[in-house]
Amino acid sequence: MKIDIRNIRREYLRGGLARKNLSDNPFIQFQKWLEEAIDANVNEPTAVIVGTVSEDGKPSTRCVLLKELRDDKFVFYTNYESRKGKQLTGSPYISLTFLWHELERQVHVEGIATKVPPEVSDDYYKTRPYKSRIGARISPQSRPISGRMKIMLAFIRESIRLAGKEVKRPENWGGYAVTPTRIEFWQGRESRLHDRFLYTLQNDQSWKIERLAP
Ligand SMILES: Cc1cc2nc3c(=O)[nH]c(=O)nc-3n(C[C@H](O)[C@H](O)[C@H](O)COP(=O)(O)O)c2cc1C
Repeated sequence: MKIDIRNIRREYLRGGLARKNLSDNPFIQFQKWLEEAIDANVNEPTAVIVGTVSEDGKPSTRCVLLKELRDDKFVFYTNYESRKGKQLTGSPYISLTFLWHELERQVHVEGIATKVPPEVSDDYYKTRPYKSRIGARISPQSRPISGRMKIMLAFIRESIRLAGKEVKRPENWGGYAVTPTRIEFWQGRESRLHDRFLYTLQNDQSWKIERLAP
């Protein structure tokens, strides 16, 4: 590589995270941080890296957009027949990583993903822009296609076919709700001595809170 990237680094100096300032409830804490990220105009505040595992235990990740915090679950939408969808059918274990660079913050969630009820997916689908609704109907997400023209033609054909009609949610597209068992809040600090607090779900459904070494 022509550029020496070893010296690309910066100090994280925005502030710290103290136990006394954390909510006992990780969902309240998460909402507070998400709202702060939105208020700070961070780029794509709802973007989250989703980790899934294949049948033979190999991890894979990709970015999606968080769309809801529903009943203490993190909800995102995708194609159920996509690579991630197939992996979640095989194993429901999932991780979510939110990274808010501008605030020097990260939240890492681990838990179990389940499909949301169809009517919940319907409700969200209806709020999507018209073209996104058409796109969800015609894209065989994650499968090889011969070229961009193929998908553009399918998009145009479907738009014409459904002109003036209701654009219904396809059954292979919908939401996953992630029920967390671990949620970690990370705040960057000077000299890489970051603040980390881990919430772990206990058998009695309470959350244990521990500070982790950076
Ligand atoms: C910022 C951003 C947001 C995205 N949001 C979504 C989303 O909400 N749902 C989705 O299915 N894909 C979304 N994608 C595309 C995914 O990263 C990914 O390419 C797609 O879901 C297929 O992943 P898979 O083949 O691992 O299943 C997004 C990508 C980016 C960069």
